Amino acid sequence: MKIFSFKIQHSRTVKAALGRNMEDIPALFPELFKSADKLCLVTGSDAPPSLRARALALFPEGKKPRAYFWLPPSEKAKTLEQAGELASFLFENGFSRSSMIIAAGGGAVTDLAGFAASIYMRGVTWISVPTTFLAQIDAGLGGKTAVNLGGAKNIAGTFHQPALAVCDTAFLDSLPHAELRSGAGELVKYALIGPGALRGIVEKNLSKTLAGDKAALTACVSACAAYKLKLVAKDERDETGLRERLNLGHTAGHAFEAMAGGRLPHGEAVARGLRFALIASREQGLLGRTDFKKLNGLIDALRLPPATAVRRDFRQFLGLVSRDKKARGARNRFILVEGPGRLHPAEDLKTTVLKKAFQGALK
Ligand code: GLY
Repeated sequence: MKIFSFKIQHSRTVKAALGRNMEDIPALFPELFKSADKLCLVTGSDAPPSLRARALALFPEGKKPRAYFWLPPSEKAKTLEQAGELASFLFENGFSRSSMIIAAGGGAVTDLAGFAASIYMRGVTWISVPTTFLAQIDAGLGGKTAVNLGGAKNIAGTFHQPALAVCDTAFLDSLPHAELRSGAGELVKYALIGPGALRGIVEKNLSKTLAGDKAALTACVSACAAYKLKLVAKDERDETGLRERLNLGHTAGHAFEAMAGGRLPHGEAVARGLRFALIASREQGLLGRTDFKKLNGLIDALRLPPATAVRRDFRQFLGLVSRDKKARGARNRFILVEGPGRLHPAEDLKTTVLKKAFQGALK
């Protein structure tokens, strides 16, 4: 297990424990738990027994009073009403400003529980325990919390860092292949945005990761999570362009998710969004043929199933990307790629370029 400690620019120091088969987190981080009067473990009502067993191994029943709160499955959890229900539950059960929320689940659980932690009594301590591959390398880290509004993702939210993120790859042992492939969409993103050493780790482990190899998964989670946390430490609020690198593929990806009515897994949408970015970069004359082929080959390696759920409606796509909160007032704004690890934000791309990338991404 590796333990990282980061001083976040606008916030306090946050810690991350990355590894496999960890045990008794309160014993490992006694300072963090010393002042907590009560713990609330939040997870999805669809959590399999293996997830609950592992969560209990990480946070064994001890001397602190605790309560359990079950969220509705997947994105259905991410509503203002659910955040209100969790906050009311905490209040009714006597939780104070010194209490602690432990969120164990996929990105929807950590987003919602982190959001509730940020508003309950103006902010209580929380611990993020991402249990899917995707959440362990992205959604469960970095303190962006959110709920969805009006069919659009993450429209209301806060920055509220978990005091500790625990990424234990033993949670991934029973993940179905489709979930590993979805998480691998984010993994390929790291190969496109990261330095050479990180790209090397992803390239070396990609096919083994897709096959569920435990050592490969642990190597990828440790390397990607550490890289993300370094970016977050330097640019928590997405202000200097460093954290924005993590959004590669996400503007088009979020539009594809919306156009699929929630039937396209996030990581697959991101993988198609990455392809969109590579084609748009090539069409803009930013990305040469050789690099295009090399980077696009990593997306090919995911063997994505056809994106049949996504409506082929280019006008709707244009509307969605212009409303994206990352557009910052421009007609459209995308992160483009100049080469491995070299990114270039671009605004107001021509419709002809967008159309070619849209068609290519959904092929
Ligand atoms: N998922 C992008 C970020 O955390 O900034």
